[in-house]
Amino acid sequence: FHVDWDIITAEKAGFDHFMLKEIYEQPKAYRDTMGSRIDPTGKKVVMNELKMTNEYIKSIQQVHIVACGTAYHAGMVGKSIIEKLARIPVETDVASEYRYRSPIITPNTLVVVVSQSGETADTLAALREAKRCGARVVAVTNVVGSSVAREADDVIVTWAGPEIAVASTKAYTSQLIAFYLFGLYLAQTLGTQDEAYIADVVAELKQLPEKVEQILEHAEVIKECAEQIATHNNLFFIGRGIDYAVVLEGSLKLKEISYIHSEAYPSGELKHGTLALIEEGIPVIALATQPDLFEKTVSNIKEVKARGAYVFGIHTTGETELGKAVDQMLEIPQTIPLLSPALSVIPLQLLAYYASLARGNDVDKPRNLAKSVTVE
Ligand code: AGP
Repeated sequence: FHVDWDIITAEKAGFDHFMLKEIYEQPKAYRDTMGSRIDPTGKKVVMNELKMTNEYIKSIQQVHIVACGTAYHAGMVGKSIIEKLARIPVETDVASEYRYRSPIITPNTLVVVVSQSGETADTLAALREAKRCGARVVAVTNVVGSSVAREADDVIVTWAGPEIAVASTKAYTSQLIAFYLFGLYLAQTLGTQDEAYIADVVAELKQLPEKVEQILEHAEVIKECAEQIATHNNLFFIGRGIDYAVVLEGSLKLKEISYIHSEAYPSGELKHGTLALIEEGIPVIALATQPDLFEKTVSNIKEVKARGAYVFGIHTTGETELGKAVDQMLEIPQTIPLLSPALSVIPLQLLAYYASLARGNDVDKPRNLAKSVTVE
């Protein structure tokens, strides 16, 4: 009698790596994280887990979002979401910097810590510093009962399920969903957006899982791009506004598992120095999902093309202009611009995965890295 599988293989459920399995689990993670937080009418958000009162919410003067790595990148998108929906000023900080820069924290500062594991030492230390200064702390975490969850005043659990691969994928996108829900909840309470707009955003949110499935159906196209990229040692990601926050995550993902050096740049900033590094054949991945910034991004793409870059453009279906400016194009389904990070990051995750695979790396356990960083 011979059994040709082991527990690890069984846990991968037919996928070659945990990372790929977790990428494909994202539609479910979105649905589970939205779950009962969307009112049965489908028009607003309910967050029964929050203990903060409406009076408290009305007293918030600023929000600080503090996290590390990928969770920090989710926090950068969170800043755009909260500022746009709730019109409260937000600062996003890397946790290892936060507590050493004497941040201005008052009882009217809401501090949001974001951590998949809930055990990251720097994030936990930042949480303690925020509480010491009298702030209220909300934890966005994937682990119920983690240190961060236990010490925060409020907890928003991301229902992504266990994430095994060191490179975070479904935890990141579930953190984005948590920020959309929280941003909408703040907007409802503060009256900063009208009910019809909130209902529109909620309706679009509910469609995201299906749209992620559509992107995953075309993974082969992204695999081909990844195989081209895998032969290079340097590349650039560019984007503007919320797209910039997403390319930062795409660049980190690529670095950590493919070991290809990449930099993510706000497109308009290139000509202030980095443009000097653009030479014949260097790959540039340009994210252009925001209609109000589209023309500007296209003109930045032309700047790098003119210097010999090979440009992969990622844009929203229906936008034909980009095709003329880039060498290869990847499309993502349409959604409202604020929600696009929850779609546009998927091709970037796949790109990193397939580039790592093409280079023969250990995708799930990249060198020098640990899943949970419990030392400072
Ligand atoms: C993600 O791909 C990384 N491995 C890493 O940046 C991670 O997001 C960071 O260490 C924070 O972890 P946490 O969410 O568990 O706090």
